[in-house]
Amino acid sequence: KMACLSCLLEYGTVKIIVIRNKAVGSVFRLIHYVCVVRKSYQVKDSVISTVTTKVKGTGFTNISGLGAHVWDVADYNIPPEGESSFFVLTNMIITPNQMQSSCPELPDQSTICMSDSDCTEGSSDVRGNGIQTGLCVNYSETVKTCEVLSWCPLEIDTDLPENPLLAAAENFTVLIKNTVTYPKFNFHKRNILPDVNSSYLKQCEFNRITDPHCPIFRLKDMVAEAEEDFQTMATRGGVLGILIDWSCDLDFPEHYCGPKYSFCRMDNKNPENNVAPGYNFRFAKYYKTTDDVETRTLIKSYGIRFDVIVFGTAGKFNIVPTIVNVGAALTILGLVSPVKSAVLGLGLTLFSSLCLLLLLLINYTNIQYVFCCQEYTGHLPDMVDLLQKDCIIDQQLQVLPRRSHPDWCLCGCCLPSNQPQEQLCCRRSIGRCITTSSQFGQLVLSRPVLEAVLLYREPLFELTEGEEQTAAFRHCVYRQYISWRFGVPPKESLPVMPSCSVWRIRELFPSKVGDYTGLRISRTRSPMSS
Ligand SMILES: *[C@@H]1O[C@H](CO)[C@@H](O)[C@H](O)[C@H]1NC(C)=O
Ligand SMILES: *[C@@H]1O[C@H](CO)[C@@H](O)[C@H](O)[C@H]1NC(C)=O
Ligand SMILES: *[C@@H]1O[C@H](CO)[C@@H](O)[C@H](O)[C@H]1NC(C)=O
Ligand SMILES: *[C@@H]1O[C@H](CO)[C@@H](O)[C@H](O)[C@H]1NC(C)=O
Ligand SMILES: *[C@@H]1O[C@H](CO)[C@@H](O)[C@H](O)[C@H]1NC(C)=O
Repeated sequence: KMACLSCLLEYGTVKIIVIRNKAVGSVFRLIHYVCVVRKSYQVKDSVISTVTTKVKGTGFTNISGLGAHVWDVADYNIPPEGESSFFVLTNMIITPNQMQSSCPELPDQSTICMSDSDCTEGSSDVRGNGIQTGLCVNYSETVKTCEVLSWCPLEIDTDLPENPLLAAAENFTVLIKNTVTYPKFNFHKRNILPDVNSSYLKQCEFNRITDPHCPIFRLKDMVAEAEEDFQTMATRGGVLGILIDWSCDLDFPEHYCGPKYSFCRMDNKNPENNVAPGYNFRFAKYYKTTDDVETRTLIKSYGIRFDVIVFGTAGKFNIVPTIVNVGAALTILGLVSPVKSAVLGLGLTLFSSLCLLLLLLINYTNIQYVFCCQEYTGHLPDMVDLLQKDCIIDQQLQVLPRRSHPDWCLCGCCLPSNQPQEQLCCRRSIGRCITTSSQFGQLVLSRPVLEAVLLYREPLFELTEGEEQTAAFRHCVYRQYISWRFGVPPKESLPVMPSCSVWRIRELFPSKVGDYTGLRISRTRSPMSS
């Protein structure tokens, strides 16, 4: 139980100052866990926000039926109020001069007729365009259909222009004004930052590298950031998310807290089948002819809907969670009993200052701290318990069966393999896959749990992106899975994991080159090996 005290404890900086002291070492290890890994010394609050938008730009079209036409913001931006979700029209099917009259229905199985007796006066089909008059009339030279009372001529929406009519929309810009509040901390801020002046705002344009704080975005750039092609997306329409992340650590000065923008396509660009792709809706413009007949131009509009989504949590130092979490962490690390830690908690005011001090040291002086500790072996259930309290499961738990799963696979989620040890299914009859269980998400895939376990084993582990990190995460997930399903395996042995779980894990933490060594037996690891 006293794992952390039983080895040499060291605390070092880049200047290689080494303090060999059990007490200091274990206190810093504790601070590291509570402060750096969990940030448990903070109270948290979620962001509240409002968004308004304003699109700018003009486009020109010259199409039959409409003639030469200049499109300004009032034409293509729907709705015009400038809400957090706005639509920019890029492609359309126009049906001009529609009037209330009668005309032949568009031909399909139920509307083609030979004589008037095939049509029923007064009947209407929800999928049709109007109310039948009971007559069977010429639709074309060869086809006759039932006549309907409707807005005539009817819209024929089968030939959508292959290139977006309003191609110029790629150069339109949008100004996004976003105000956020963290009510618990009485914190208010806009995405137009205090150092931005009006002359800058008039000509700036968002660029991740040169102008990351400019709130004016070119539509094409946003779509490109989401790794999509504007003209392709504009043809059939789509939905693009503009994500603004306001996550902040309010222990640092206010100007460190700013918006971080990212973009992603929200609708599925390649659905399993190609039915009903993109995004479109219809609207009409009404007017009266000189002889006072109500007439309209019907527009089936295709375009991109931009949804601005604001999210974030802020944390700020608070003594109460610090005491609670330090107490809990002490218990987990096996340093004190629960009863003692409750008593001890009250005397921990000093600890919170150490907490902040360590954070400041890490960020401002680039200190590297070294802890020596034995390999992590036990306490896992305790730790999971603690972490679960505010653990957010961010992995999608929904797992769809694979198209070509082998016969021996009863959950439908395995992949074929030649290796006998990779052909294991954990089910005896057809049914749900173990990877869809919530325990799989919580114990095996939860990011906070994994990070904590990794840092517990390897305090110097860098939680950055990279092939090596992904491999470490993958192996950590295997270990988590094994301790969840099998407990501690006997020496020099390794349980075989079901194929569905192995591949699910590999998908989430993939190896770029595609070589998977799996988990190797390592009983003789030295504590500081990397
Ligand atoms: C629009 O197109 C028509 C023929 O397609 C052409 O005669 C006319 O000049 C065009 N108008 C403009 C303003 O380009
Ligand atoms: C309908 O089409 C038929 C055959 O094409 C033609 O003989 C007839 O005159 C047409 N009726 C009307 C009202 O145009
Ligand atoms: C958008 O602007 C760029 C540069 O200003 C120009 O090269 C491009 O042709 C414009 N796109 C359209 C569709 O007009
Ligand atoms: C506005 O800000 C820009 C850059 O932030 C700066 O170069 C410029 O001098 C400022 N203009 C005024 C009038 O303050
Ligand atoms: C230290 O600074 C980095 C940016 O340089 C920041 O991402 C990180 O959150 C800071 N660390 C702490 C503990 O606040």
